[in-house]
Amino acid sequence: MDKFLINGPCKIKGKVSISGSKNASLPILAATLLFDKPVTIKNLPRVRDIDTMLNLLKSLGSKIILSKDRKTAKIINKKNMKTFASYSLVKTMRGSILVLGPLISKFHKSKTSLPGGCLIGARPVNYHLSALKQLGMEYKIKDGYILAKSSGRLKGKTIKFPKISVGATEQLLMATVLSSGKTVLKNCAIEPEIKDLTQFLNKAGANIKWSGRTCTILGVNSLNQTSHTVMADRIEAGTFCVAATLAKGNLQIKNLDPKIINTEIELLKKVGAKIQTLDDKIFIKGPDKIKPIKNIKTKEFPGIPTDLQAQLMVLMCKSIGKSSITESIFENRFMHVAELQRLGAKINIQNNKAFIEGNNKFIGAELMSSDLRASVALVLAAMVANGKSIVGRVYHLERGYEDIENKLKKIGVKIKRLK
Ligand code: UD1
Repeated sequence: MDKFLINGPCKIKGKVSISGSKNASLPILAATLLFDKPVTIKNLPRVRDIDTMLNLLKSLGSKIILSKDRKTAKIINKKNMKTFASYSLVKTMRGSILVLGPLISKFHKSKTSLPGGCLIGARPVNYHLSALKQLGMEYKIKDGYILAKSSGRLKGKTIKFPKISVGATEQLLMATVLSSGKTVLKNCAIEPEIKDLTQFLNKAGANIKWSGRTCTILGVNSLNQTSHTVMADRIEAGTFCVAATLAKGNLQIKNLDPKIINTEIELLKKVGAKIQTLDDKIFIKGPDKIKPIKNIKTKEFPGIPTDLQAQLMVLMCKSIGKSSITESIFENRFMHVAELQRLGAKINIQNNKAFIEGNNKFIGAELMSSDLRASVALVLAAMVANGKSIVGRVYHLERGYEDIENKLKKIGVKIKRLK
């Protein structure tokens, strides 16, 4: 398994171009199952999770023609598609569950593997299943699979999600565009990735309207041939903004609408970063001294994303003073803490809150990645530690960060891959 050797502390300077969003691409690719006509998706990031989703679509019968740079996929579905999403494909990526809604909506049956556990928490799919049931999907769980069917088209209804869920909102949007009648979804997630999915589907003839956290869908009979460019990855952009703030860096981050990370930008300004935005660019300079922030709390969009929690924890370890971070989305998302402690971090966890004593001197060490965002946080920590660090299991990073090694090298991070 590959590892990264990072020699810190590193000075970072230069330009970073943000790739297409993994979390927007996954539901958009799943939604292509709803189409009879060809669809072209552009600006896909070249990351492992996208390969997994493309393989899943292929296994269901889609023909996929990739451009040379693998960022554009033309997807053509067969008349008789399969409806079986196997455990071997679903277990490596929870996002695979997003094919359930499109399969049941379009083909009225599906055998989709349950995604299983995950290091950051139990991550059940009960909201997905109970909402689909209300639209007319019958299902049972057998041998780890969701065996689902519906008698004809799903029927529109008013559904209120018990809790805000990104995946459940996407699942239901996809399941209802071809349903009969009107669906009103209440208490929806409103992440920009969901708005990107909406734009894609509406461009193809769907009738989806938003008002705050309520989404109204009028079912249509079919979707038209279309092409869509996936939005930029706001978590990747946020990660580079944290990197610049952490390492007294001077970065120009381009290819992203800065408005979608406004909350993150405001937080980093409070910490001391100097930030300017222009069109699709962010200019960011890290401060000499990082200010601590009490009570950072992860929240659904437009709050601080849980996918940036680990990176912000590294930042707070280097702030001058005491701070705290509350993780309010996932129950077990502090796997990176023990690794950061091995570098010298002083963090005390009480339930879902981390109390951080700042001004830590990090000394390089061998570290182990546990999940996608935790692993990038370890890379950031190694970047500001004194001496050599080795970050193991970099395949976690490759699930969601395109070309991370070269992007970091280009801005001055002394990083080398060990095979
Ligand atoms: C998506 C993102 C992930 C991000 C998360 C929160 C993708 C592919 N993944 O994950 O990167 O960290 O949003 O922003 O886009 N829950 C239930 N039952 C359900 C569904 C969710 O209890 O049926 C709980 C989850 O365990 C979690 C919370 O609701 O505690 C929010 O999860 P959700 O928003 O659904 O996250 P994902 O869509 O899995």
